[in-house]
Formats: sequence, structure tokens, C-alpha cells
Amino acid sequence: MISFSAPAKIILSGEHSVVYGKPAFAAGIDKRLRVSIFGRKGFLPSQWSIVEKVVLEYLSDNKIKFTKKSFSVRIESDIPKGRGLGSSAAFAVASTGAYIKFLSGRSFDKQTINNLAYKIEKEFHGRPSGIDNSTSCFGGLIFFRKEFEFLKVISRLNFKIPDSISNRLYLIDTGKPKESTKDMVEFVGRRFNKNPLKTRIILSEIERSTKQMVVSVVKEDQRLFAESVKKNHLLLDKLGVVSDWLKRRLSFLEKYGAYKITGAGSRKGPAGFVLFIDLSGEGDSILKKTGFKYFRISFDNRGLVEL
Ligand code: MEV
Repeated sequence: MISFSAPAKIILSGEHSVVYGKPAFAAGIDKRLRVSIFGRKGFLPSQWSIVEKVVLEYLSDNKIKFTKKSFSVRIESDIPKGRGLGSSAAFAVASTGAYIKFLSGRSFDKQTINNLAYKIEKEFHGRPSGIDNSTSCFGGLIFFRKEFEFLKVISRLNFKIPDSISNRLYLIDTGKPKESTKDMVEFVGRRFNKNPLKTRIILSEIERSTKQMVVSVVKEDQRLFAESVKKNHLLLDKLGVVSDWLKRRLSFLEKYGAYKITGAGSRKGPAGFVLFIDLSGEGDSILKKTGFKYFRISFDNRGLVEL
């Protein structure tokens, strides 16, 4: 048996703007998806044909020896699906790691696995930036920018979210959005085409607040971090990816800290996971009032691992 696992991710800042070449700041978190491959014929997940196509193409194109044999796949995951935590990216990364090793008997570097996982993500979502698979593959804190389709700058930052911030961070599960990530990326795309000037200004402001957030982490400045979360929320709202439903339920949190969607967001109803930084020190009692499930965030530093 060959088994690989990859973590979920949260986008701290820069969702959507990252699709337009702006930077994004993301982190691996300690929820994982594990892919195990067994050497006998049996169950294959529905999206497996995409993994198969991408990996086989890579091995053939690079004249890497491999043996095709019967197999079955088992997926185990504690990453909620379709809620902005990158479950499909973790699937793409862990599947690639496991399948390429199963076929070739060799381990590959994370850069190669990440490039292949990106190809798989493109088949799933149409026009992803690559931040989801990169964060899942490398883990830790990632500063990401897509310069061209063939050039993505993926910097794994060698610092951590300081305790003074991470101890106050929560993820709130507002439920599965009706729209997919692809729908939401397309929605922003239509908006951009209709009103490029105005949208460009919003995207540039998001870039500023992403950089401000990175500075807040380096300086261990909790207030500055909260300020950039708040700014992010307002800008994502301007972009049209924060539903009124969500604002009605969560705007009271602004009295106690700051919140934002993390991931693609939604036009109507639930928005997947929402990031909240509690400045009041009463996080639990406040969050109970939302009626949603929530948890504290614990970060993952490992990215893809072979088990
Ligand atoms: C999805 O997790 C993040 C988006 O920016 C899409 C992408 O970057 O591919 C909305």
C-alpha cells in the first residue's frame, strides 16, 4: 500500500484578486485528506480518470519508466467539502503523490507534484490561480503570486503566525455555498469585463491589504492583522462575493473583532468557512450566538507527506 496525505488550506488574504495576478497569503491547517493505493483491482474515486491522465502524460512525456498494474484507491478525509478549505486541492496533491509513486516506484519533489496537481485542479475548476494546491502541497505560510500561466512565485515564508494572533483566530462553518468556486471565479470575471476600471481598483486595494496582513504577522501586531481582515471583508463585499445572508448573521461580530470569508465566497446564503479574529477575549461565548459550528485554527507546517 502507498499512502500520502495533504492538508487543508485557508486563504488569509487575496482570494479572487490572486486570479488576476495579485498576491495571496495562505496557510496550511491541520485537517488532512489521505489517499491510499492498494495493488488490487477495486474502487476508484469519480475524479480519478483526471489524475490518471495527468500523471501518465507526465511520465510518458518525460520518458520515466513505470508499470501499469491493477489497483484500488481509498480516500479518508477530515476536510469538509466545498466550503473553501481546499478539499479538492488536497485530493489533487495527495492523489498525485500517491499515484506517481505507485506507478514509477520513485518519490518526486514537491515542485513536480504541485505542477501536476495544478493541472488536475484546472480540470476541476476551469481557471484556478494555483494557490490552493500550492498551499496544500508545501504547507506552512505561503505568499503566492501568479505572474504568468507558466510562472508562479510560491514563497514559503519562514515565519509563523504568532501566538498572539493565532490564539484568537477561529473558523466559523456557515454551511456549504450553493455556488462552486468555479461559479464564483466566473462571476468576478463577468464583473471585471463589465467594469474593468472599478474592479481593478478593488483588486489593487486587496493587494495592499494582503501586504498589510503579512506585515502584521511579521510585526506580531494583532490589531493590524484585525484591521486587514476587516478591510479584506469590505473589499470582497465590493467585489460581490459576500452574501447579504452572511452579513445579516455575522455583522454583529464587528463589535468584537473582524471577520472575512476565506475562499470563493457566495452570492446567496452560506459562504463556507469564515475567518474570525476575536479581539474581545470572549470568542467562545460570542461565537455561540452565531448558531454555527466553529473551531480554533491550528496551522500545518508539513504540506504533503508520505505515510
Ligand atoms: C479559492 O480557494 C480561491 C479563489 O481565489 C480561486 C483561486 O485562486 O483559484 C477564489
